[in-house]
Amino acid sequence: MPQPLDTPPGDLRTRLAAVGQDHVFHFWPSLSTGQRAELVADLQSLNLAALPDHARIAAKGSAAHVAGRIEPATVIRANEISTKAVERGRELLAKGRVAAFTVAGGQGTRLGFDGPKGAFRISPVKNKSLFQLFAESIVATDRRYGCSTRWYIMTSPANDGETQGYFREHRFFDLPSERVRFFQQGVMPAFDRDGRILLDEPHRIALSPDGHGGSLLALARTGMLADMATHGVEHISYFQVDNPLVYCLDPAFIGLHDLHQSEMSSKTLPKADDLERVGNFVMADGRLAIIEYSDLPETLARAKNPDGSRKFDAGNIAVHLLTRAFAERLTRDAAAFALPWHRAEKKVPHVDLATGKRVEPTQPNGIKLESFVFDALPLAERAILVETSRAEEFSPVKNATGVDSVDTARRDMSRRAARWMESAGITIPRTAAGEPAGVFEISPLVALDAEEFRRRATVRRAIVPGDSVYLD
Ligand code: UD1
Repeated sequence: MPQPLDTPPGDLRTRLAAVGQDHVFHFWPSLSTGQRAELVADLQSLNLAALPDHARIAAKGSAAHVAGRIEPATVIRANEISTKAVERGRELLAKGRVAAFTVAGGQGTRLGFDGPKGAFRISPVKNKSLFQLFAESIVATDRRYGCSTRWYIMTSPANDGETQGYFREHRFFDLPSERVRFFQQGVMPAFDRDGRILLDEPHRIALSPDGHGGSLLALARTGMLADMATHGVEHISYFQVDNPLVYCLDPAFIGLHDLHQSEMSSKTLPKADDLERVGNFVMADGRLAIIEYSDLPETLARAKNPDGSRKFDAGNIAVHLLTRAFAERLTRDAAAFALPWHRAEKKVPHVDLATGKRVEPTQPNGIKLESFVFDALPLAERAILVETSRAEEFSPVKNATGVDSVDTARRDMSRRAARWMESAGITIPRTAAGEPAGVFEISPLVALDAEEFRRRATVRRAIVPGDSVYLD
């Protein structure tokens, strides 16, 4: 029989009292034994040593700030990518040196979908989910290069069970399940504006994922870096769960990254407009860095070169390559490693200590802290930035409607498929406005890019306006 918890175990209460946070035990006397254990588990998931810092940042403002001297970043243009780089990338893939890595721990609140975002069905004809598209890309890569790619998926405590259940239900989309490794990211407490931890329930801390910057420590803590080492993985191909067009494992990008001996590399594209909600690549004090759209002053976002072009025009599509050695170097001393915290004011439902009642705020009332993986860029000894094309590789699903929405992502998948088909000599009917007259989808199992499509594709019938065409 477990002993009932009469008092919080160990020195938890003393430690929290010492940093002015022992109000988290306010309801302790009225909690059941099970509830006490849950509260203790929540507290043990926190970095108590760093709590005073976190509370201070929550109360006073973020440690992350726009660096003093920023200049536009240097970009390797698409036409500068050599055959040698592509060959090198292919060779590394064939040798199994590259793993896929998806960050899928976010809450996906903007989309309003009740489930892990990766389970959202997005493809325009077959209605495949984001996870299915990535899985098929990995299966196709394995077939193309004769490799056995490992896929690491970061979840959060809130969506881990559902995410893993989703993969089991779909039999891992034909990937061997032992090669798909899930691990959970860390959490951070939400604070009020005075830096006091908020309670979600009388026995629960209001916790949320600690940002994708938490992925580096989580990869180390959960043994995933060690797993990569065991399997000979040297490079980590990082992408977000929300972009159905992403090239999960791009030989050209991998080859460039390796030939430049880069520790962390990123893909970029020109921004759609001055205020597009994408991070901005810059050189900050001589180092490649990203300033998030919300942190770049509008005057800089609108700044122009003498020829009228945009000065800070390198947008972040959140596709990176990191060497495993870099991730290991950063996280070797886990206690000493931290990326800057970014502070966001959010509506945080919580329990009011005075009344014991739950408050559902209609205005932002609390502070959440997140770290961003791209803040590791300035820590890299060498970092390169490579241009890609929006039409080929970027159409994120962020919102239910409007910009970066379900509709725009489906449209862009269909447009890309139509372009690949045209490049293979297939006639696609087009509307007066130049849009493909129909809905088109090419399975990743058929082709991972236009060139492969040209080599492999056969379409046996003529396409007529309004067609819905799926090629597998
Ligand atoms: C992000 C980038 C932005 C980039 C844009 C491209 C940040 C802070 N900004 O913006 O620079 O231009 O994508 O689409 O990332 N995630 C976790 N755990 C977390 C938080 C997020 O795994 O704790 C994952 C999400 O599941 C998602 C990704 O990170 O895959 C992006 O998160 P999100 O908050 O949607 O970033 P954006 O604001 O869209």
